[in-house]
Amino acid sequence: MQLTEFFEKAWQGYVQLTPDAPVVHRLLAERGETILNDHVAFRTFNIGSINRFEVGRVFEGWGYRMADEELDFPEKKLKASYWLPPSPDLPKVFVSELVVEKVSPGLQSWIREVTSPSKMRVKKLTAESLLSRTWEPVDFAQYQRFYPESEYAGWTAAYGIQVNHFTVSVNDLKTFSSLQELNRYLVDNELKLNESGGAIKGRPEDLLEQSSTLARHVPCEFAGGQRQPIMGCYYEFAKRYLMPGTQELFQGFIPKSADKIFESTYERNKK
Ligand code: NI
Repeated sequence: MQLTEFFEKAWQGYVQLTPDAPVVHRLLAERGETILNDHVAFRTFNIGSINRFEVGRVFEGWGYRMADEELDFPEKKLKASYWLPPSPDLPKVFVSELVVEKVSPGLQSWIREVTSPSKMRVKKLTAESLLSRTWEPVDFAQYQRFYPESEYAGWTAAYGIQVNHFTVSVNDLKTFSSLQELNRYLVDNELKLNESGGAIKGRPEDLLEQSSTLARHVPCEFAGGQRQPIMGCYYEFAKRYLMPGTQELFQGFIPKSADKIFESTYERNKK
């Protein structure tokens, strides 16, 4: 599969879980904007054949290169890496993973059960497998039981390894000079933003500012063919700044900003 085809298909799956994404596209198209993505993000667990490096390996096959920097989110028990694209018009790929040893024994055994070889729909992650469910649907009662301990674990168990968010590159928009201006346009058009830690995460001095919509409830398939509304995905917006003394935009990520962005799928943030 070609990378462009992968991203097209990934987008089709993502909009099913992100009803606001096509709304944002329409609102930007009405201004004559063409959208370039800053990054695309995946969530997984730090378990052998499905860890973040295995997700990244799929993109390495398309010429992506892992950045030499590990991001740590101790409060959420996550680690992340990101991969730089073979050409600047392509999105970076950001992959986070839950450090399973750090969660409660009960949650650990649920994650190991959900991702056990007998439940996996693929033996090895491939481009195709990142476009469909990675493992069998999980039990809804178990999902509800473990959600309060780790929203991240619940989301990932329920959806498997698929795109968690696309991110509009605000630098590549022509009619918005700032992230504030874009946010105002979205809010004026009745979109809800994640206000956890303020609508804008990061400052120009951090070289990266980010905001995001709040996920909405979408139906998700659970074991036994049960369908339940749970939080889907969100759309993110990123504005990058030049690294001091260079003409190059900062391409990294800021853990303390991303920490709050992860909360865009939290039930308690839903208004
Ligand atoms: Ni992101």
